[in-house]
Amino acid sequence: MDIIWEVVIVFHVNLIICSSAQPNPSKDHEGWWAYKEAVQGKFIPVPSFWGLVNSAWNLCSVGKKQSPVNVETSHMIFDPYLAPLRLNTGGHMVGGTMYNTGRHISMRLDKEHLVNISGGPMTYSHRLEEIRLHFGSEDGQGSEHLLNGQAFAGEAQLIHYNHELYPNYTEAAKSPNGLVVVSIFMKIAETSNSFLNRMLNRDTITRITYKNDAYFLEGLNVTDIYPETASFITYEGSLTVPPCYETSTWILMNKPIYMTKMQMHSMRLLSQNDPSVIFLSMSDNVRPAQSLNNRCIRTNINFNMLVRDCPNNRAQRLQYRVNEWLLK
Ligand SMILES: *[C@@H]1O[C@H](CO)[C@@H](O)[C@H](O)[C@H]1NC(C)=O
Ligand SMILES: *[C@@H]1O[C@H](CO)[C@@H](O)[C@H](O)[C@H]1NC(C)=O
Ligand SMILES: *[C@@H]1O[C@H](CO)[C@@H](O)[C@H](O)[C@H]1NC(C)=O
Repeated sequence: MDIIWEVVIVFHVNLIICSSAQPNPSKDHEGWWAYKEAVQGKFIPVPSFWGLVNSAWNLCSVGKKQSPVNVETSHMIFDPYLAPLRLNTGGHMVGGTMYNTGRHISMRLDKEHLVNISGGPMTYSHRLEEIRLHFGSEDGQGSEHLLNGQAFAGEAQLIHYNHELYPNYTEAAKSPNGLVVVSIFMKIAETSNSFLNRMLNRDTITRITYKNDAYFLEGLNVTDIYPETASFITYEGSLTVPPCYETSTWILMNKPIYMTKMQMHSMRLLSQNDPSVIFLSMSDNVRPAQSLNNRCIRTNINFNMLVRDCPNNRAQRLQYRVNEWLLK
């Protein structure tokens, strides 16, 4: 343990010395993190080090409301005051640009038609800023959130900011009630969700093979990425990337969306690097689950209705009902 701390301190000191000698230190520093060890012999902070290498990222290690988390479905609390989610696309199709950021597949909508979400646990309306995909190198891993300890092949995160209180995403991300992230688990099946199919078909995905590649898509219907369910699970957490600000309300949809084996395969062929550097798959771009501490996980799934249905078999029915959609 002592040795680890010493190593961290040495790295920290080195970093300060090195970065002060570089032309654009703050910018380099902001991007100086990774999900996994990259090249031998070169230190780059993986999730357990994020909070230790940059004082502005303190929350990544000392925060008590961090994300992602493992959701134990038996500990969820039914909240009858959770309103239905309301997605507002204004009835418009949207255009968006897909990026390989080196860490995620990212989709940003053009500003012509704004997509807002409200209801659920939200007091304010929030505007969709970015859709981000996390995925694994194997089918049994890839989602950031876990359900009863189990990961999914991927997780689509729809990141929204509070446009009623804040002028833009950057301001909202560091402010109270700033963000709402809708999380949708991704599983492998014979057929694909139609929105995912637009992003992940070979013609599209092969245009963003390398870091900083971008590709514009038209005629997207944001409604299509949502699974057909009104049920969700919600809790208060953080960004899952540095600086780990604790400003995000998470909404996990209680049903997955599907992608094909081929689409999954294509995602794994995305590189974290630009073409001049050795290929390194973007897969496993996942922060490990963080402690829940004393946070409450709420849901609009009304278990009591099941209890009435089946008074003698409560525990089993609870598990069954939740697992029916997500764990099969
Ligand atoms: C989303 O909110 C903005 C206000 O920031 C508003 O101009 C826009 O019309 C809303 N879009 C929809 C589809 O409701
Ligand atoms: C988007 O999809 C939803 C659900 O499939 C549909 O009701 C809606 O009409 C579509 N929007 C547009 C603009 O086509
Ligand atoms: C966001 O809004 C703040 C405050 O108005 C402004 O200073 C900043 O430049 C804006 N950032 C972006 C990326 O637009």
